[in-house]
Amino acid sequence: MLTAHRLSRLPRHFLTGEELSRDEIEYLLNRATELKRDPHASRALAGQTVALIFEHPSTRTRVSFEVGVFEMGGQPMILRPGEMQISRGEAIRDVATVLSRHVAAIGLRTGDEQMLQDLARYATVPVINMLSPLHHPCQVLADLLTIKEAFGEVSGRCLTYVGDGNNVARSLAVVGARAGVDVRIASPDGYALQEDHGATLFADPVAAVAGADAVYTDVWLSMGDDESTASRRREALSPFRLDDELLDRAAPNAIALHCLPAHPGDEISEEVLYGRRERIWDQAENRRHAQKALLELLVS
Ligand code: CP
Repeated sequence: MLTAHRLSRLPRHFLTGEELSRDEIEYLLNRATELKRDPHASRALAGQTVALIFEHPSTRTRVSFEVGVFEMGGQPMILRPGEMQISRGEAIRDVATVLSRHVAAIGLRTGDEQMLQDLARYATVPVINMLSPLHHPCQVLADLLTIKEAFGEVSGRCLTYVGDGNNVARSLAVVGARAGVDVRIASPDGYALQEDHGATLFADPVAAVAGADAVYTDVWLSMGDDESTASRRREALSPFRLDDELLDRAAPNAIALHCLPAHPGDEISEEVLYGRRERIWDQAENRRHAQKALLELLVS
């Protein structure tokens, strides 16, 4: 267990998840569990504002951050680049500098990895990646919390992701491996991660799922992907659909995960999405609890 003194040395930004050590992830998951039990237990943002910049649509990330900041005594401020001077060419450096004079932290969802890097480079308050082309680390904190709830701990558990090697798959590999999870990523040729990031890469979904404690999938066409590739993607990714038959190959008490939004019949069957083995709706709720623990850690 970490002490408050040790936490004070934590890097301020949360861009990929590599900023957290295994001890820090363990601390964060324990704190998230406490905050789930008692949602108003933290006043770490009392009287402060958190800017949340959304370049792309969101349901879970927006709601969980907005409600979470409010529960911590703070005010969330939703900003859309189209309504900011960014849309007229203002430099991210200048936006970072100005926002840092007003708010306690800045969240950014963007389709431009460089924008995230530039914001973090020039902001003097913590910057949190709320989804970028390469990473979705906040999602994985919630995923780990869901695994902890199901199995008591995350270290030593096996999580298999089946499908497109996208930002969620990369973050599961990066953050999951740091947390001591045996992460396996199964993707078809042409859709695999270019690096393993600490995970084991598979081309065969059945082999990857064997004995897994959690089986996870995500959309086949992510925000920013070329819509005209949808039918080609569906054809390549169909053997990786998370359905009962595939889930039966996992451990007897395996759970099904999906970061949502879901497309039943594509990457997941309706039976799994709403079935007895899903923990998907807990996972969606856990976004708030995990992010509150993260915010507390970053602004303290
Ligand atoms: N999982 C996730 O990030 O959901 P939203 O796109 O709705 O925020």
